[in-house]
Amino acid sequence: MKKIILTGDRPTGKLHLGHYVGSLRNRVKLQNSGDYDEIYLMIADSQALTDNFDNPDKVRDNVLEVALFYLACGIDPEKTHIFIQSQIPALTELTFYYMNLVTVSRLYRNPTVKQELGLRGFEESIPSGFLNYPVSQTADITAFKATTIPVGEDQLPMIEQAREIVHSFNRIYGETLVEPKELLPESKTAKRLPGIDGKSKMSKSLGNCIYLDDSEEDIRKKVMQMYTDPDHIKVTDPGKIEGNVVFTYLDVFCSPEDFAKYLPEYNSLDELKSHYQKGGLGDVTIKKFLANILCDTIKPIREKREELVKDLDYVYDVLKKGTEIANKKANETLEDVRKHMKIDYFDNEKFLEEMKDKFN
Ligand code: TRP
Repeated sequence: MKKIILTGDRPTGKLHLGHYVGSLRNRVKLQNSGDYDEIYLMIADSQALTDNFDNPDKVRDNVLEVALFYLACGIDPEKTHIFIQSQIPALTELTFYYMNLVTVSRLYRNPTVKQELGLRGFEESIPSGFLNYPVSQTADITAFKATTIPVGEDQLPMIEQAREIVHSFNRIYGETLVEPKELLPESKTAKRLPGIDGKSKMSKSLGNCIYLDDSEEDIRKKVMQMYTDPDHIKVTDPGKIEGNVVFTYLDVFCSPEDFAKYLPEYNSLDELKSHYQKGGLGDVTIKKFLANILCDTIKPIREKREELVKDLDYVYDVLKKGTEIANKKANETLEDVRKHMKIDYFDNEKFLEEMKDKFN
């Protein structure tokens, strides 16, 4: 069986470091591993509209924005088909058929939906499109016969829901759809990078993000505001590592070379940590160290993005071509689905024969 990746993001804002360590970095690695037969990367504008239906400009403006970040991070359109969800009609049709296979109460019980309902303040008046987005996400996944879905931890209930729908479909209509499996980032922190304020998730609405096009000045300013250990007041005080955002980030971003380059007094992160715990190491030192590392991480992305912004025709063309390829693939699956659901009247010459037998 072919190994196929599908993943995507809602175009609702700029991408930040949480996206980078939670998925982007990994997608580039997977893309370049040569282990996959096909890779699709979707800009999920239809899904973004399920909770931004009253703000179409926001979604529209962020489609190219997300594409720019993909390309700036190293997504290569020769290897990965980047496409726009709403331009693939088969996805909408598949969603409609899959809706029969899911109960409303199951959708209410989906933990991601539940949490998001709270965040959006939808509790009392939930648009049915929003409640249904896990079904539409199943269409995204199955349309491409995706086997592997690289996602953050928060998306696990979505993949679970997709597997359930695949099972029901195949049981009722015969083996048609491919069962997907999630691929989580390796490290626990990468699955969910905290915001600079120490809140559990980096998120635009919480205002605690470091964006992938932040200037060095922005990055340094944000790192200086980072939550550390509120009891570490004097340099000589012993400090806590646990819950200290600077160390959480160092765990994710720092490499041995960074010590040689920026903090040669220490050999390793363990040594730095134990000094901090003992006391005598100030927040400013560790923050400056982290800021240098993050500046190095973001610089190539920001610069590539600046270049691409000058050539939007190219970016537009990448999306157009990717969308064409995605449409072809999704239409093949749709054809197969219609056949199994016995609604392939005009594509199956046997239909008329059968009816003739039946009526005569
Ligand atoms: N729900 C995902 C998010 O909010 C985006 C998404 C839409 C997606 N369809 C998908 C992710 C299919 C993986 C597979 O980030």
